[in-house]
Amino acid sequence: DKGNHRHFMEKEIHEQPEVISHTLSHYLDFAEGKAKRESLPFDFAKLDRIAISACGTAYLAGLVSKYWFERYARLPVDIDVASEFRYREMPMPKASAAFFVSQSGETADTLASLRYCRAEGIPIGAIVNVQESTIARESDCVFPTLAGPEIGVASTKAFTCQLSVLAALAVRAASERGTISAQEEKQLVRELSETPRYATQALKLEEQIDRVGRKLSQYKHVLYLGRGTNYPMAVEGALKLKEISYIHAEGYAAGELKHGPIALIDRDMPVIVIAPHDRVFDKTVSNMQEVAARGGKIILITDKEGSRRAGIETFETIVLPDMPEIIAPIVYALPVQMLAYHTAVFMGTDVDQPRNLAKSVTVE
Ligand code: F6R
Repeated sequence: DKGNHRHFMEKEIHEQPEVISHTLSHYLDFAEGKAKRESLPFDFAKLDRIAISACGTAYLAGLVSKYWFERYARLPVDIDVASEFRYREMPMPKASAAFFVSQSGETADTLASLRYCRAEGIPIGAIVNVQESTIARESDCVFPTLAGPEIGVASTKAFTCQLSVLAALAVRAASERGTISAQEEKQLVRELSETPRYATQALKLEEQIDRVGRKLSQYKHVLYLGRGTNYPMAVEGALKLKEISYIHAEGYAAGELKHGPIALIDRDMPVIVIAPHDRVFDKTVSNMQEVAARGGKIILITDKEGSRRAGIETFETIVLPDMPEIIAPIVYALPVQMLAYHTAVFMGTDVDQPRNLAKSVTVE
């Protein structure tokens, strides 16, 4: 049931404040300011690394979490798309664990990667939305995403719930490895508890984003740029746009611009820059200047502080509230999803059932 929404995708985008809240409270004790510590088949404090493998949007959730695990828990993460991982014959040192991220829990390549790790004898954790799935069944422990059923083929709420689980696990890992203090843990948990409130504010940008989507629907090619955790978000933005609007889109790490894609910049290819005012903001601004100097049209997704400091004439600036760094990837997913959604609606495509795509990819 779509309720009063035109598409399941729109409904699922709007459900996010609630399902994120539900998911985070499963893993975090807000009253105590701590990550919950249900027993695990491995000890974060004793791990030398984790391997993460998944496909599509689930892979991009894993890629965001690499930044979190490495920064907060000082725990190295190897991450691959599952279709590569399964054939790569990656050596698995004893002190590793493997995480698999999947909405459906049935994705063939992800399952094959899981079975490879099982054969290597390392503990396996699954971040899944469908709890009675094959991937959940074959794992040593399951970290459910409590997104509820996701009907739209393009993943939205499952993605932000995957991010929520992974952020909570990164905080737990950091605490158990002693790389953050009890005070810092408390602070991070408090910041994460604010996510639903910021997600609700992000949804209020819908009218503006609808206007930007109308503009974007006039173009054939779009480039997305971001740095740090905004890099996977740029790739996710491009993936979402191409899969539902059929507009050609690419997502790049902003620093890679000058190593090739800058050759494409002209007035016919809008560049969407995802850049909250964070530690790498100034670097991204210099990439934006390179785009602007070549006549590129910039759509900047940033926060108040970022819009004040960017000092660049943009085609459009979408301004979110200033927010803690750890929650930005979860909250920024919403405008990115809404932009793809509204563009696709203007294109008149079948948003919930894009051509050639299936909700669950059970063949290789
Ligand atoms: C994109 C999308 C796909 C899935 C991918 C993995 O919007 O939905 O890229 O994320 O097919 O599917 P799951 O998560 O079911 O393993």
